[in-house]
Amino acid sequence: MLEQLEKLRTEALEGLRAVADGAALDTWQRSTLGRRGIVTLITRRVGELPKESRPAFGKRANQVKQELTAAYERKATAVKADEMERQIATGAIDVSQPGRPRPLGRLHPSTQVLREICRIWGDMGFQVYRSRDVETDEYNFQLLNMPPHHPARDMWDTFYTTQEGVVLRTHTSPGQIHAMHDYHPEPIRVILPGMCYRYEQISARSEIQFNQVEGLAVGKNITFADLKGTLSSFAGRLFGAQIQTRFRCQHFPFTEPSAEMDVECILCSGRGCNVCKKTGWLEILGCGMVHPAVLRHGGYDPAVYTGFAFGMGVERPAMVKYGIKDIRYFWSGDLRFLEQF
Ligand code: DAH
Repeated sequence: MLEQLEKLRTEALEGLRAVADGAALDTWQRSTLGRRGIVTLITRRVGELPKESRPAFGKRANQVKQELTAAYERKATAVKADEMERQIATGAIDVSQPGRPRPLGRLHPSTQVLREICRIWGDMGFQVYRSRDVETDEYNFQLLNMPPHHPARDMWDTFYTTQEGVVLRTHTSPGQIHAMHDYHPEPIRVILPGMCYRYEQISARSEIQFNQVEGLAVGKNITFADLKGTLSSFAGRLFGAQIQTRFRCQHFPFTEPSAEMDVECILCSGRGCNVCKKTGWLEILGCGMVHPAVLRHGGYDPAVYTGFAFGMGVERPAMVKYGIKDIRYFWSGDLRFLEQF
């Protein structure tokens, strides 16, 4: 049987030498080394030998198998290279074909608008100040002039955590206090972008998470006129220099006096449409002069310092800008939506 094995080896190597293409190589591989190939078959017959010659045969059979496997691999590399060369020579690869496009990633529409807003405030001399998404009740409410049970807390439906006194921030305003603690006693001009969370019914107009950009300026002799001038200038840079703005009275516990700024509806140029509910105006932010109690909580003496603050949404202006009808698209992760931006 050993002789048979040697013969088989010689024939297999000869056969391999004659192989010229991938198909023939596959056939050779199956009939020689495959599960039902001759090497396997002869190895299985080891039981027919007398006991004492079995180890020698087994050893030789393994050597042959390894040798043939190595020869096969060498041949496979050579055949592949040959075939590639032949394809190139016969023009099967058309090098003048345009390449396959690679899909590009893109920025989320919120991120695009957020960056645009940050760029404008940067041009106007405001630094970006980051603060945390998970806040204490103290920062989210108390230091902003809303002690426990203050009725104004109802304006912000809050996600409470299992840890007593720890909430998901309902607005970026608590960052104002962190910024004051960090900057004190220097003057401040910062914006605070970031995600906010509210325990609300999700609808076409409101989501449980959304971005805000807060702003804070603290210094000496800052007046309401500075607030109006700065915010109007911002609106002009974001929506175009011609845009009309107006300030309406409003109430926020952390500012006094407080206001909301509207811009002329950019969809109907103020004539009145469904988006602006026929008023011709779109509300884009809340603002006001920082409340003396809040300045004090930040470490600034309200007899010496004044300041203004504001807070604006990001998704609402993005909806107006891109004509997005439903806020739920933003976090649904639907690529058909995201790929449009
Ligand atoms: N935090 C307010 C909100 O989420 C927005 C706001 C209003 C921020 C007035 C301010 C401000 O800084 O002065 O509705």
